[in-house]
Amino acid sequence: MNDDILSRDSRYCSFGDTVHYAKPPKVFSACEGSYLYDEAGIPYLDLQMWYSAASFGYRNERLRNAMVKQLDTLPQLACQYLHKEKVEVASEIARICEDRFGTPGRVHFNVGGSQAVEDSLKLVRRNTGKNLMFAFMGGYHGRTLGASAITSSYRYRRPYGHFSDRAHFVPFPYCFRCPYEKKPEDCGLYCVQQFERLFESEYYSMWDSKAGECEFAAFYVEPVQGTGGYIIPPEGYLPALKRILDEHKILLVDDEIQMGFYRTGKFWGIENFGVRPDVVVFGKALTNGLNPLSGLWAREELISPSKFPPGSTHSTFSSNTLGTAVALEVLRMIAESDLEKTVKEKGAYFLEQLQMLKRRRPGVVGDVSGLGLALRVEFCKPDGLTPDRELTDRIFQAGLKGDLDVDGRKYGLVLDVGGYYKNVITIAPAFDIERSEIDLAVGLLDRLISRCE
Ligand SMILES: Cc1ncc(COP(=O)(O)O)c(C=O)c1O
Repeated sequence: MNDDILSRDSRYCSFGDTVHYAKPPKVFSACEGSYLYDEAGIPYLDLQMWYSAASFGYRNERLRNAMVKQLDTLPQLACQYLHKEKVEVASEIARICEDRFGTPGRVHFNVGGSQAVEDSLKLVRRNTGKNLMFAFMGGYHGRTLGASAITSSYRYRRPYGHFSDRAHFVPFPYCFRCPYEKKPEDCGLYCVQQFERLFESEYYSMWDSKAGECEFAAFYVEPVQGTGGYIIPPEGYLPALKRILDEHKILLVDDEIQMGFYRTGKFWGIENFGVRPDVVVFGKALTNGLNPLSGLWAREELISPSKFPPGSTHSTFSSNTLGTAVALEVLRMIAESDLEKTVKEKGAYFLEQLQMLKRRRPGVVGDVSGLGLALRVEFCKPDGLTPDRELTDRIFQAGLKGDLDVDGRKYGLVLDVGGYYKNVITIAPAFDIERSEIDLAVGLLDRLISRCE
């Protein structure tokens, strides 16, 4: 059966997505909780949960029921009409943002993350009349054309011609590999100082001091870099950056597509750093991967009906009723649980186990860190610093073989590779992962390292 699927995939499916990063592509046929299952019924413990989209576990029953209920009542509705769940989801997100950021605002929906990023670009352009953005090296905001222009990897742009509005990319505070070769203990946030220097003189190319105007409209920030390798900025960095942005009338757009909805132990990742963004973009876990829904929140001054009038953006499936029904249930589940406590506790336990792994594997495990249940393991050569991309890739592929024996049962491990040098395993488990499953995960990882070293 698998052979037939693989041969037809290789003949009829485009290779343009990311399926063929694995050789051969992996086929799964069922999922439940923290596990994916192959055709033979072998469980694969998933440590990436659909790039953090399925944070509440696969086939979550409560969310399934919400979806089925909507299927039986209002499964389809053109988004030019209102329905109750859309307004309730928008109200709840606006309430949460007002509570966290102290300012009223509105919510605008779309379908996928990149589309919400595109909408945010339009909102920023419309408010400022400018089309240039700052973004971070190592940053990822999606692969539609507008999102690619502010996503750091040149590989994603190179075959598609000239991007006239390509972002100005600023080094991210990646302290394990400081772009300025400083040490976090005594750098005095040198990287922020370097960013601030851009505004010292008009001859640094972006600031007109006479007019008090910057050529750039907004800075796109992931509070913890996702695809870049789950890099957590050091304390004080984001507040210092925000001060500079405010002084130069540059908006801060907070991309929470991967870190939002408690991945880092807070509703929004940026809350960990005490910074109030002007715009928040979200997607992924809002519907736990069921019927996609994405969107943005913006301060009222930026998104009031006079600033962002009807028709400013539109997609046939934005605010789709199945998505809003599930999103509403996700928000209810969040309100009823204490995710701040449980995600932080589980994250701390997971990190402890990874730190022990690092001690057992000096050099090879060069760095581990985490914020909530967004964790990272950086694989290096024995010197503990040189990135080991090949080893990381072998570990990733070996996890998908599904042949790790645990008490007489076969298991696999689903990992995701990220980072600037593709030597980082980014870990985003389900929020209800048990301690025993965390032990299993770290044990399996340890065995994969032994096998692949
Ligand atoms: C931070 C961030 N922004 C934007 C996106 C793009 O979202 P989507 O893949 O839903 O278009 C992603 C996806 O991984 C992401 O992690």
